[in-house]
Amino acid sequence: MGFGEGEKPLFQKGFLPFPDSLPSGLFMKKSLLEGLRFDPQGVPSPSYVVDAELLRRNAAILDAVRRRTGCKILLALKGFAMWSAFDHVRWALDGTCASSPHEARLGREEFGGEVHSFAAGMNEAQVREFGALSDHMVFNSFHQFERFRDIAAQAAREAGRDLDFALRVNPEHSEGHTPIYDPCGPCSRLGIRRGEFEGKNLGGVTGLHFHTLCQHNADALERTLAAFERGFADLIPGLSYVNFGGGHHITRPDYDMERLCRLVEGFQARYGVQVYLEPGEAVALNAGFLVSEVLDVVERGMPLAILDTAVPCHMPDVIEMPYRPEIIGAGTPGEKPFTYRLGGLSCLAGDVAGDYAFDAPLRPGDRLVFCDMAIYSMVKTNTFNGVNLPAICLLEPGEATPRVVKTFGYEDFKGRLS
Ligand SMILES: Cc1ncc(COP(=O)(O)O)c(C=O)c1O
Repeated sequence: MGFGEGEKPLFQKGFLPFPDSLPSGLFMKKSLLEGLRFDPQGVPSPSYVVDAELLRRNAAILDAVRRRTGCKILLALKGFAMWSAFDHVRWALDGTCASSPHEARLGREEFGGEVHSFAAGMNEAQVREFGALSDHMVFNSFHQFERFRDIAAQAAREAGRDLDFALRVNPEHSEGHTPIYDPCGPCSRLGIRRGEFEGKNLGGVTGLHFHTLCQHNADALERTLAAFERGFADLIPGLSYVNFGGGHHITRPDYDMERLCRLVEGFQARYGVQVYLEPGEAVALNAGFLVSEVLDVVERGMPLAILDTAVPCHMPDVIEMPYRPEIIGAGTPGEKPFTYRLGGLSCLAGDVAGDYAFDAPLRPGDRLVFCDMAIYSMVKTNTFNGVNLPAICLLEPGEATPRVVKTFGYEDFKGRLS
């Protein structure tokens, strides 16, 4: 099936119409504000706000890939696990992939469809939990597979479920990552190398899995696939599926959808197997925001604004990746008249989001909106310093005011300690 005429513009269409009246207390840049359908003053601060219309737009793109190629697409829960929003993406996906028994249970209870599980290492208790919850378990070594396959199969039988087994392989092809995001880096513990297959019996294995990409376009997949086929093509006959992992930035405007579809279709035709993709980022890319408020403005060698968020707690990837998040209406230093270093309220000297320029001076009470905060944010929060977690809000399609789905407090902080 090809993309219909009505479907292709999905990737070209801009954001929603620019609102006539602008939200109050917000610094704006037209091109970015076009994505915002709510007044940041109308939600608690700090809060994550996920826009279901933007989620559904991503889901429609993924669904188009599924329908055209016949591949299956799973949500990687590690990237986006806001279960109150699952209705908006479930219809477009085939299930979830889990990195722990907790994620597998969330996928089973709240998402439905297939559950695929992988962890770099598992103990026996985890294997039993995974086995009872999963349709497919992916092992990271022959040792773990041989030691645990019977235990997992028994747990699945007791749960009344069929369980398939796959092996994660390492195609030993890097695509220029930050080293901590490169599963094919030197001495990587992730994935079985081709050399380890010598003398091994693949009986009971129905799939192979590789995950090597991170925010990549389809050209990187093409090179990776060539490396995977060079190393593992002879093992594919007799298998039922190959999972191409995550890291495919499919819902980004410049993503080469045609090439992705061609690669998936070609692979499935060559080997007669089902292809799976398991993106996390692409499902909720650019669909969420972190609203925060300016608490104080001080001059300490340069103008600084202190926000009611904490970068290491609420957007840890900004430090870990590291990257500079976009803020609606803000520019790079000097691009606009008023430049500030934006920092959080924690004790960490490095609790800094970056330097940003604004059209007007910042004042306490101003709201700033960080973009692309649905992914790898809520799932990574922590309460370092006792900092409270942001509220979680969902803006339903057609609504103007986000619904506050959850707020957090002292008990959430205390409950993680004893
Ligand atoms: C095994 C596996 N699958 C899927 C993903 C999801 O990747 P992304 O969110 O970049 O699409 C990851 C991310 O680390 C992963 O390790």
